[in-house]
Amino acid sequence: MSAKHAWATLSFAALALVAVACGDTASPRLDAAAMRDPESCAGCHAAHYTEWSGSMHAYASFDPVFLAMNQRGQRETGGALGDFCVNCHAPMAVRLGLTTDGLNLDSVPAFAQGVTCFFCHSVTAVEGTHNAPIVLGDDLVMRGAIADPVDNPAHASTHSPLLDRTRIESANLCGSCHDIVTPPPHELHLERTFAEWKASLFSHGLEYERATCGSCHMKGRDDVAAEFDGVFLRQVHDHKMVGVDVALTPFPEREAQRAQLQKELDTTLLGRLCVVEKAGKTTITVRLENQAAGHSWPSGAAQDRRAFVEVVAYDATDAVVFASGVVPSNMPVAEIADPNLWRFGDTGFDVNGKEAHMFWELASLTSELLPAPFVSDKNSPEWQDIHRTRDYLYDGPLPSRVTMRARIRPIDLDVLDSLIESGDLDSAVRSEMPTFNLDGSALEWKLSLGLPCYPKDHE
Ligand code: HEC
Ligand code: HEC
Ligand code: HEC
Ligand code: HEC
Ligand code: HEC
Repeated sequence: MSAKHAWATLSFAALALVAVACGDTASPRLDAAAMRDPESCAGCHAAHYTEWSGSMHAYASFDPVFLAMNQRGQRETGGALGDFCVNCHAPMAVRLGLTTDGLNLDSVPAFAQGVTCFFCHSVTAVEGTHNAPIVLGDDLVMRGAIADPVDNPAHASTHSPLLDRTRIESANLCGSCHDIVTPPPHELHLERTFAEWKASLFSHGLEYERATCGSCHMKGRDDVAAEFDGVFLRQVHDHKMVGVDVALTPFPEREAQRAQLQKELDTTLLGRLCVVEKAGKTTITVRLENQAAGHSWPSGAAQDRRAFVEVVAYDATDAVVFASGVVPSNMPVAEIADPNLWRFGDTGFDVNGKEAHMFWELASLTSELLPAPFVSDKNSPEWQDIHRTRDYLYDGPLPSRVTMRARIRPIDLDVLDSLIESGDLDSAVRSEMPTFNLDGSALEWKLSLGLPCYPKDHE
């Protein structure tokens, strides 16, 4: 693998260099302003830069739904939200005093937008479990998982367990942002990805069962960690970090981001479908299991997500005899008249017990989630059944075939409609919201196979 001299192609005018004594040779290092700018990394870390540039970390403060919700929240709380939201969505902008409330993000320079390279790679301590109590070093040393980094003229490097996916501590960094307790007076534990992970097999199972956030969200591949002289092949790690959200406005790497996302979703759930008839009544039993997410499904902003199950039964002429969860792409899930709908997610309520959507209004929650795997040993006191089952009943003989699939919409249209109505969100965003199918959960039962359940063997 030939290391490209990307360093030489960097613009020295743009990147002010300072001389830093390094052993007996004086090597020029990038100064603080240059280190904070992701553009400065692109020359040597091209792949990392490209992947990150399309990630939700890069999008976090350009996300139109974020901007709309923050704007409305500031207005409706009379500014009491302060930097609560932007402290996670553009943490460098807050730390550099470039914003106090996120209302001026359109004039904040690009280098301070989103969750940046410098932010993650400068962390020296994490002082709590939610709302991002993260301490950054001011030594311009880039922290990562490489214990023997090749020297380079741009920056010093060092190993940190907080940035090493093989270390359990690394989940504290990701988890401290991926876990939200809303500000007083409600102090609701609204987003619980880190807490869910801590309760799962992946944080306290046997050594070989353990997986940190990075183990699953930053898959490794063999490559060079930098395009620079003297480097050698190592395991490098994916920075696309897909979950379920996608860019809703023009943004880099949309195709790559979506392709990776669909791949992850397709293996997340495992389904089982049984169809039986008794005295002229048919029962369709759907069972789902979260087999690959290291936390509940859905997770995080589960109050905005709409995950649901679509079940359709057909007779011998292929006419529909029963259907549930058939949601047209332009309709909010809440608006379909479907008494049988099986929906996953959180539902939020205000102080009066009325259903509400916005962070600052929410005083309580009810949840229906598919839990993460717990310990696999059935004799352990910590063992819990993670299967969730739903029966659908209708009058009539066995159908000819039944199809099922789980689907997820990252943010539902009723949330967007509310933001459009309040004048905070451009209505063009609405038609960009996808609804994903989870192909791993898509099953078809056929009468002709003569089996009550499909797949047959899955316990
Ligand atoms: C002049 C080229 C160059 C530039 C510019 C550069 N790096 Fe590096 N970086 C390297 C080299 C070389 C390594 C070591 C790679 C190895 O040992 O395989 C490295 C290693 C790293 C590591 C791993 C540290 C460890 O010990 O695990 C991180 C993190 C990192 N760089 C982040 C950045 C960030 C962020 C930027 C932009 C602000 C940046 N780098 C700019 C060349 C560069
Ligand atoms: C959300 C936090 C986060 C952001 C943002 C981030 N990184 Fe990383 N990066 C990590 C973690 C964690 C690792 C270590 C993974 C491991 O090896 O366990 C890592 C590893 C690296 C490495 C070492 C090689 C490798 O792939 O393991 C380099 C180089 C690097 N990042 C550069 C960058 C650059 C450049 C950017 C911005 C364009 C960036 N990172 C943005 C968290 C982040
Ligand atoms: C500074 C806080 C912060 C840290 C630290 C952080 N994240 Fe994030 N992360 C965010 C924000 C904010 C978003 C989403 C922004 C959006 O969608 O508007 C996000 C998005 C994501 C997503 C996509 C979620 C989705 O809904 O699609 C994944 C996956 C993710 N992060 C994983 C990680 C991992 C793994 C780490 C640790 C290596 C990490 N994050 C560290 C703040 C953080
Ligand atoms: C065992 C693998 C695994 C581990 C461990 C894991 N995740 Fe995930 N995560 C997934 C998969 C698979 C998905 C995709 C499912 C989806 O988006 O519906 C996902 C989705 C997400 C999402 C999108 C939200 C949603 O509704 O699904 C976020 C955010 C996220 N993960 C963050 C984290 C953080 C933070 C940690 C550590 C505290 C973590 N993950 C640990 C596998 C894992
Ligand atoms: C502790 C860090 C943190 C805080 C505080 C925070 N967010 Fe986020 N936000 C995240 C993370 C992490 C994600 C990634 C998606 C997930 O976890 O499901 C996210 C995702 C989002 C999304 C896209 C996903 C969705 O379905 O809604 C929006 C919009 C958003 N946040 C708005 C806000 C607003 C508005 C506030 C303040 C009222 C806020 N956030 C406060 C970390 C934070």
